[in-house]
Amino acid sequence: MDGNGRWAKKRLLPRSFGHKEGVKTIDRIADTVFSVGVKYLTIFAFSTENWNRPEDEVAGLLGLFRRYLKSNVPKLIKRGIRLNILGSRRAFDQEFIDLVDDACKRTEGGSVGTLNICFDYGGRAEIVEAVNKCVESGRKVDETTFASCLQTGGIPDPDILIRTGGEHRISNFLLYQMAYSELFFTDTLWPDFSGEEIKEIIAEYRKKDRRFGRINEE
Ligand code: FPP
Repeated sequence: MDGNGRWAKKRLLPRSFGHKEGVKTIDRIADTVFSVGVKYLTIFAFSTENWNRPEDEVAGLLGLFRRYLKSNVPKLIKRGIRLNILGSRRAFDQEFIDLVDDACKRTEGGSVGTLNICFDYGGRAEIVEAVNKCVESGRKVDETTFASCLQTGGIPDPDILIRTGGEHRISNFLLYQMAYSELFFTDTLWPDFSGEEIKEIIAEYRKKDRRFGRINEE
């Protein structure tokens, strides 16, 4: 969801306005992708490194997330969207954890699409956590069993990664899962990211010849 801060700055508004607008984009993009048959949308909302932002910005982001969980569940249920939250819960109090669990539980019947929100998420932390799980289990793992120990266990690897906001980097997102994802970068700032643009990206993706290391026989 990159570009919220710059979106606000361009309008001479505080960064928090950009984040507020960015939350609206989540619904717009979810509705668009699920309407064209995508089954999973994973949003990178807050990274393990984002705790290093100024205290008031962090508090604002936590507030937006809390509000989203508190007020959006009926709308998600109505649209058939299942909510799933990935990331660490270490920094959250019990009330927040209950709110997360309750939102996920209430939407678990959603069959139109799954919206994964990564909050306090880091790809490296996730891999290390999975390694520890494997070590503790005492089992030898292969790629499939290892993947099942990640927080995304049971969720297919992403076909497409889109980064908005003009930067060309992965920033610690889904590092293990991204091995064969098709990467798209757009200068559009997240609050301006439209259903139209994501449909164009999906159309571009559909033209790709995905070989997964193989060659195509004539
Ligand atoms: C990236 O833009 C955005 C973030 C780091 C935070 C996004 C999180 C939220 C809007 C709150 C979470 C709420 C829900 C409902 C999931 P940036 O601030 O890095 O933008 P910039 O690069 O233009 O400064």
